Amino acid sequence: EHQKYIRNFSIVAHIDHGKSTLADRILEMTDTVSEREMKDQLLDNMDLERERGITIKLNAVELKYHADDGNDYEFHLIDTPGHVDFSYEVSRSLAACEGAILVVDAAQGVEAQTLANVYLALDDDLEIVPVINKIDLPSADPERVQEEIENVIGIDASDAVMASAKKGIGIKELLEQIVAKVPAPAGDVEAPLKALVFDSVYDDYRGVVLSVRLAEGTVQPGDKIRLMNSGSEYEVTEVGVNSPNPVKRDYLMSGDVGYITASIKDIGQTRVGDTITNAKNPADKPLPGYREMNPMVYAGLYPTDNARFEDLRESLEKLKLNDAALEFEPEVSQALGFGFRCGFLGLLHMDVVQERLEREFNLDLITTAPSVTYEVEKSDGTQAEVENPSEMPDSSEIKTISEPFVKATIMVPNDYVGAVMELCQRRRGIFETMDYLDDYRVNVIYHMPLSEIIFDFFDKLKSSTRGYASLDYDLEDYRPSDLVKVDILMNSDKVDALSFITHRQFADSRSRDIVTKLKGIIPRQNFEIPIQAAVGSKIIARTNIKAYRKDVTSKIHTGDPDRRAKLLDKQKRGKKRMKAVGKVEIPQAAFMAVLQTD
Ligand code: GTP
Repeated sequence: EHQKYIRNFSIVAHIDHGKSTLADRILEMTDTVSEREMKDQLLDNMDLERERGITIKLNAVELKYHADDGNDYEFHLIDTPGHVDFSYEVSRSLAACEGAILVVDAAQGVEAQTLANVYLALDDDLEIVPVINKIDLPSADPERVQEEIENVIGIDASDAVMASAKKGIGIKELLEQIVAKVPAPAGDVEAPLKALVFDSVYDDYRGVVLSVRLAEGTVQPGDKIRLMNSGSEYEVTEVGVNSPNPVKRDYLMSGDVGYITASIKDIGQTRVGDTITNAKNPADKPLPGYREMNPMVYAGLYPTDNARFEDLRESLEKLKLNDAALEFEPEVSQALGFGFRCGFLGLLHMDVVQERLEREFNLDLITTAPSVTYEVEKSDGTQAEVENPSEMPDSSEIKTISEPFVKATIMVPNDYVGAVMELCQRRRGIFETMDYLDDYRVNVIYHMPLSEIIFDFFDKLKSSTRGYASLDYDLEDYRPSDLVKVDILMNSDKVDALSFITHRQFADSRSRDIVTKLKGIIPRQNFEIPIQAAVGSKIIARTNIKAYRKDVTSKIHTGDPDRRAKLLDKQKRGKKRMKAVGKVEIPQAAFMAVLQTD
C-alpha cells in the first residue's frame, strides 16, 4: 500500500559528470525547495563542499513526485561523492537503496570511477537507470557513450535518459523512469524493527542523529530501541525525514529513509553499519553491516597548542560519527608532543578531516607527512606493522620490509598511453594489461606501490594527459621492496616527525630535494641552522639556513598603527601553524615538504 509508492535511489557517477547538478534539478522539478531557497549544489551543505565544488558526504533527502500514472510517489534520494577517497560513503548509501541513477558525461564517456561505482551498485543488486548528461555540450557524443556503457559496463543503455542537468533537459523522463524501473522496497511492516544505520552526526542539543533505512517494522517516539551490535538501549525522542531540512514525523516504517534521535550522548556506542531493533520486540539477527574500511595512509595530527590535546580527542570522536572511515590512536612525538596517529582513505580525505577539525571544532593543527603502512619482518623472526616512519626499526634488525601494492586502472585516450606508461614506470609500476574500450580509448592496468600513487600521482597523471586520464585503484597485497628510512636532523637534533621511508634508489635525490625545500620553508633565526638527511648514521644530504643579519621585526614599530596591527596579527596567525622543535621554529609546510616527489 504505502510502500508501493516509495522509491529509494542513489546517484552515482565519476567526479564532475554532474551528479549534484542533476540532484538540484530533481529537487526543483519536484518542488522540494522553493525558488527562493534554491541554490546550486543544494545538497552539498558543508561549506567545505561548496567552496571546493565537490561532494564529500552522502546526503539523503525526501521528495514528492506526482507521476504520469496519477499517483503520488515518495522518493528518497541519496546524493553521494564521486572521488575515490569517499567511495566508502557511496557503498553505504547504496545499501539503503533499491536503485541507482548512473550519470555519465556525454562528452567524456565511461571513466574509472563510473566503473568502480556502478560495480558497487551491481554488487548490491540495484536496478541501474543510466543517464547520459551534458548533451548540451558541443563535444557531446551521446550515441558513442551509449555504446560504451553497453560494451564496457555490460548493461542495457538503449533507453538511457538523454539529459542536460544544466539546461533542465530530460529530468521529467528520468523521474518517470525511476517510477517505472526502480522497485518499491519490500519488507514486512508487521515484523520486528530492523533499521540500518548508514550515517550519523553529533548535534550538541539532540545528541547523536542517526540516518537510517528501515528494512522491516516501524519506529516512533517513545519506542525503546536497541543497537544490535553494541547492545546499548535508548528511548526514541524524535523521528523524521530530511526534505531537505529535517521534518518531524509521527513514525517511520519499513522502506523509509529518515533519521532517529534518542538523546544519545555517549558517542562510543553508535557505529555506522549497526542495526537498530525494538528492545521489547527484537529482531533475531542484525542486517549485514558494512565491510570494515582499512585506511590507506596514516599521518600524525597535533594541536599547535599542547594544552588542547583532550579537545582534539573529543573532536576526533565526534567527527568519527560522521566519518566512519576515520581512525585514530594517541601517539607521542619528541618534536611535536602529544597527538594522534590517524588513518585516512587518501590525501583528500586527510585534507578534509584536518579542515573539518579546524572549522567545526575550532582547533589549530599540525599535520605530519602521510605515510603508508609497512610490514617488517625482523631478523629475530618477529613481525611489525609500521604506520609511522620514525618507528621503523634499525636496519640491522630488519630482514625485509614489504609495502602495499595497488592495482591501478587508468582510462585514457590512446594518444596519451605513452605518457601514462612512462609515468607509471618511473613510479615503479609493473605493467599488466592494456585493453581498448572503443576506437580511441584505452584501459591500462598497472601494479604500483601505494606510496608512489597516493601523493601527487593523480596530478602528474592529469598534467601529462591534458586532464583526459581517470584513475581508480584497489589495494592488492604487500610486496617486499628495497626501502630505507631517511631521518632529518635540524641543528643536529633528529626531528622524528620529518622522517620518511623511500626506495633506496631515490634516497639520495629525494633527500637533496627535501633539505633544499626545508631551507626555503624554515624562517631564518638568529643563529645558523644545519639541516641534514641521514640513513642510519650516514649523512646523505646537507645544507645550512643562514642566521639573519638584522632585526626585521623592528620595522613593525614604525609606520602607521593600522598597518602595524595588521602585521602583528599576521605574525600571530602565522605563528599558530608553527611548532618549536628544540630551538627551531618549524612551520606546517615543512612537515609536508617530504610529500612532493619530483
Ligand atoms: P562531485 O559531487 O564532486 O562528484 O561532482 P558532480 O558529479 O556532482 O558534478 P557537479 O554537479 O558538481 O557538476 C560538475 C560540473 O559540470 C559543474 O561545473 C556543472 O555546472 C557542470 N554540469 C553539470 N551538468 C551539466 C550539463 O548538463 N551540461 C553542462 N554543460 N555542464 C554541466
